[in-house]
Order: sequence, then C-alpha cells, then structure tokens
Amino acid sequence: MESNKERIIIVGGGSLAIELISWILNSDIFDNIEKRLFFIDDFISEDINLDSIKVKFLGKIKDIIPKDDDKFYLGIANPLKKSEIVKILDEKKVNFCTFIHPSAIISNTTKIGKGCVIFPFSICSSNSNLQNFITINVHTAVGHDVGIGPFTTLSSFVDVTGKVQLGEKVMVGSGARFLPSIKIGDNCTIGAGATVYHSVPNGKTAYCKPAKLI
Ligand SMILES: CC(C)(COP(=O)(O)OP(=O)(O)OC[C@H]1O[C@@H](n2cnc3c(N)ncnc32)[C@H](O)[C@@H]1OP(=O)(O)O)[C@@H](O)C(=O)NCCC(=O)NCCS
Repeated sequence: MESNKERIIIVGGGSLAIELISWILNSDIFDNIEKRLFFIDDFISEDINLDSIKVKFLGKIKDIIPKDDDKFYLGIANPLKKSEIVKILDEKKVNFCTFIHPSAIISNTTKIGKGCVIFPFSICSSNSNLQNFITINVHTAVGHDVGIGPFTTLSSFVDVTGKVQLGEKVMVGSGARFLPSIKIGDNCTIGAGATVYHSVPNGKTAYCKPAKLI
C-alpha cells in the first residue's frame, strides 16, 4: 500500500468517475484516502458520497492549479471529451497516472501508456500495446498483439481478439467482439453487442451481428 500524502484527483464527476472511485477504494492501493481524494468537473460540483467516503469537489477543470505531487486519474468515458479535457490539463502539466485494479491480469509484455484506467477482471494478453488515456471497463479481454490508440474506451465484457488494431478515440459498446487481425479506424463507434468481422474505416459506426456500417 502506498503511504503518502499527495492529493489524488479524479478528472470528472460523472458515472465513469464514480465507478473509478469505487474501484480505487476497493483496490486498497492508497493509504489515508479519505483525506486525499478529490474530483474536478466543469458541470458537477456536489461532493460525491460513496459508502462512508466523501469525495470533495476541488473545482472546475479549467481552474485547477496542480501541485507537483498531485496524482490525476481520468474518470471520463467519452473519447472526444477525454481528448478535449486532456488538452486543457496537459497545458497545466498535470501528472496523469494509470490505475490498474489489482484483479486485472496484465501480461509482462503488455505496454500501457499514461492516464489509462483498467477496471476489475480485465485481461491484457502478450504484446498488447495500449497507448495513453485508454479506458477499459470490467471483464474486458485485450488479446495478444492488439494495438489500441489514444483516448479509446472499451466498455464492459468486450472481446478484442488477437492482432486487432483499434484506432484513436474509438468508443466500443458493452459486449462487442472483434474477429482477429481486423483494423478499426479513428473516431469509430462500435455498438453494444456487435460482432465485427471486417475492418471499419475512420469515423464509422458498426453495430449488430454481423456488424453493419452506418
Ligand atoms: C450503436 C449505437 C452507437 C447507435 O446509437 P444511435 O445512433 O443513437 O442509434 P438509435 O438508438 O437511434 O437506434 C437506431 C436503431 O438501431 C438499433 N440499435 C441501436 N443500437 C443497437 C445495437 N447495439 N445493436 C443492434 N441494434 C441497435 C435500434 O434498436 C434502432 O432500431 P429501430 O430504428 O428499428 O428502432 C448505440 O445504440 C450503442 O450500441 N451504443 C453503445 C452503448 C454502450 O454499450 N455504452 C457503454 C455502456 S454505458
């Protein structure tokens, strides 16, 4: 367990942020967490009550003045919003950290960038490469040699099979499945429950089984 005094700052106060906070609390990674945990958001300003813990609102994203030892965790699911907010916070040189729940299984050969969050019971298999600011929700499997671009979000129970390449800012709905070696372009949306057999060009939405494009 870490036993330091730095502030732990969750970026966002919506549903994904609340999930992230609950998994951070459940992970027991941080000591003395009640006094150190805060969130920032431009629209939500009420403290978050989770079990017996109060997560205090620290201020708006644009107004935050980071301290050197702050740890920032990105609690936002929407890829476009993530990229916009990271741009603002990068200018302030905040220290983005990656959270990996202890129940996730990560291969020793997986590479993971900064600002990622990986929720319980997820798996990242050999030689998978996760770039910065990726969100992986519960029970999601990232297969061998998979590449995932920045800001992409995988919802729960997603199955990304071997050698699939997901572009940047892709939003993948719950329970979607990708067949091996296909490529999903940048800014794509994949519907909940889709089974994607073929590559998808930039900016397209794929849904249903077999997936059709819109
Ligand atoms: C595919 C998706 C992006 C389409 O969103 P949309 O453009 O707003 O589409 P609509 O909700 O207007 O639905 C349009 C039609 O597609 C159908 N449809 C929508 N999503 C579908 C899906 N995932 N699989 C099959 N059919 C779907 C709807 O039933 C509707 O059919 P109808 O015209 O016969 O009534 C969205 O439905 C989706 O699956 N999002 C992922 C949600 C998710 O998993 N979020 C993460 C967990 S919180």
